[in-house]
Amino acid sequence: MTELTDRPAAAHADAAFDADDLPSSPATTPHFAEVVQSRMSRRTVLQGGMLAAAGFLTTSLVDTPAAQAAPGAKGRPAVPPSTGLLGFTPIPPGYGDEVVVPEGYSAVPFIPWGTPLQPSGPRFVPGTPDLIGTGNTAAEQEQQVGMHHDGMHFFPLGERKQASRHGLLVVNHEYTDEYYLHTGTFTELTPEQYTPDMVRKSQAAHGVGVYEVRANRHGSWRLMPSKLNRRITANTPMTFSGPAAGSPLLVTGAPADGTNPVGTMNNCAHGYTPWGTYLTCEENFNGYFRVDAGAYTASQQALNSRYGVGGDRFNWATQDDRFVVTAARPNEPNRFGWVVEIDPFAASSTPVKRTALGRMKHEGAYIHVADNGHVVAYMGDDQVNEYAYKFVSARPWRTMVLAGQSPLDEGTLYVGRFNDDGSGAWLPLVHGTGPLTTANGFADQGDVLVRTRQAADALGATRMDRPEWTAVDERTGMVYLTLTNNTSSSKVVNAANPRKPNPWGQIIRWEERGGDHTSTSFQWDLFLLAGPGGGADGSTVDTEDAFGSPDGLWVDPDSRVWIQTDGRQPAAANNQMLAAAPTPLTSPARPDVRRFLTGVIGCEVTGVITTPDQRTMFINLQHPGEDGGSTWPQDDGLATPRSATVVIVKDDGGVIGT
Ligand code: FEO
Ligand code: CA
Ligand code: CA
Repeated sequence: MTELTDRPAAAHADAAFDADDLPSSPATTPHFAEVVQSRMSRRTVLQGGMLAAAGFLTTSLVDTPAAQAAPGAKGRPAVPPSTGLLGFTPIPPGYGDEVVVPEGYSAVPFIPWGTPLQPSGPRFVPGTPDLIGTGNTAAEQEQQVGMHHDGMHFFPLGERKQASRHGLLVVNHEYTDEYYLHTGTFTELTPEQYTPDMVRKSQAAHGVGVYEVRANRHGSWRLMPSKLNRRITANTPMTFSGPAAGSPLLVTGAPADGTNPVGTMNNCAHGYTPWGTYLTCEENFNGYFRVDAGAYTASQQALNSRYGVGGDRFNWATQDDRFVVTAARPNEPNRFGWVVEIDPFAASSTPVKRTALGRMKHEGAYIHVADNGHVVAYMGDDQVNEYAYKFVSARPWRTMVLAGQSPLDEGTLYVGRFNDDGSGAWLPLVHGTGPLTTANGFADQGDVLVRTRQAADALGATRMDRPEWTAVDERTGMVYLTLTNNTSSSKVVNAANPRKPNPWGQIIRWEERGGDHTSTSFQWDLFLLAGPGGGADGSTVDTEDAFGSPDGLWVDPDSRVWIQTDGRQPAAANNQMLAAAPTPLTSPARPDVRRFLTGVIGCEVTGVITTPDQRTMFINLQHPGEDGGSTWPQDDGLATPRSATVVIVKDDGGVIGT
């Protein structure tokens, strides 16, 4: 999602925002040169055969038992193959209202917003131009595919070959373009025009969808009639678990208070667990509330301020008091900003907000199983100058699941510190340790988790350029994180975030000490600095691979790094997806980057997963025509643009990316 502080999503009154108003040739500060110099010096040291001089590497990779688990151990390649990994001919930047993929590939829209969940369900009816509140009703939207497809996973339903032809596609529906939702056209809306049904419809278009899908014999896919098809919305009953469940900060006056929240929204990226569940992550929840004046405590004010609560950008507060914050009832915003676990195979299951993973503008939660069986969740908090996090389960996940415990309820949440010398540390957010004490105003672990950002501030974590998706290369253990951009005047400069302003973003990556993902130290470098290429604005990509605002991210089983963009692109091109071949940490070699897909006018490209055989790829195009100008996917002669999944296959039936 485009950051709400940059671009309100609910109305296009913000047309005054124009990405091109940002400086096109930002001057790099002396500080940038200095920090790059320091990082390059480190690379030189490492290339100079002085590995043993770096104590960290000596102990982690040579002297300790953890060396057994280092990347490269157990038959895993320390350096994945980078030649021949990308077999397609890259395409040029896109400017049209069509999806373009390389020669030899095809891309077909699938399950657009408004598709009925069942064959007998309500058909999609677009709004009538300039007639506000027309189109499908809220009750109908509750039985249809949501808007603004985002993070997504494919859970196979069949065995062997069928596992790649039949499954559950679980899709986040991040937010809404209210003008398309309620009028079908790019029409101005004001808060006064809202009705209860319009708010209910918006809430129903948000959330998550579980869709049973199957490949036809000729390779196209269809949505199946299924009892598993399900919508989870901003009004679905949920529960809290973990250390913050029952916290006074989660009490609002509703029944079973502190434990039974209602709904999820602004579901951006995602995760999935080895025990077969889906994780949906609540990102810009702060913008859905109206904060009324009143006698708030200093602590309440500080909390809302730190999370930027307020704005009522979707006008829900006009009709639904739950989204009106008052001094007498200040805590509803605290019930959002969590990672929510959903069992897609149990349609009547209640989603659970896992508080142990912290409260922030959660972008995603990539789950990696460490060699000792503990699960590790890598997470970004997407706002300027926010942090990267990881969670490590208390015990091996199988042990915990067998004991009836959730591996996501008990463990340690850490926040990242990226030192200028390329080392890094995970700082524990544990009540009673360091500054996180009662004397310093943190009542207990639940309090630390509800106020995750403030706890991370106290620990001195590294401020980053909007942490977005994380992904682990499961072959090598390398962890990647997209840092999308940061043009704020408040931007903090450090070695991991060297450019100010930073309109293009970068991808940072790291190796945990000894390859042990439960470790509290790591070594990092910058995989690439995005931008126009050829060194312009400090970018480290080639000119023909120009891109900006990296956001969606996934490393496929062969180590291809899939990069999706959401935001400003060089030469004002459409958003896109690229693939990169990995390089070893601290390698001076530039990765091979190739543009694989270009999206339509006004869309972001987000969500990426393949079937297990890697021969079908699903991606999402979100908010086509958000500033007008698009009618994609036009699959039914309708002029209203609709977010949708895109199914990509190779014409010869081969692996995607080869
Ligand atoms: Fe929903 Fe940070 O993108
Ligand atoms: Ca983004
Ligand atoms: Ca995103």
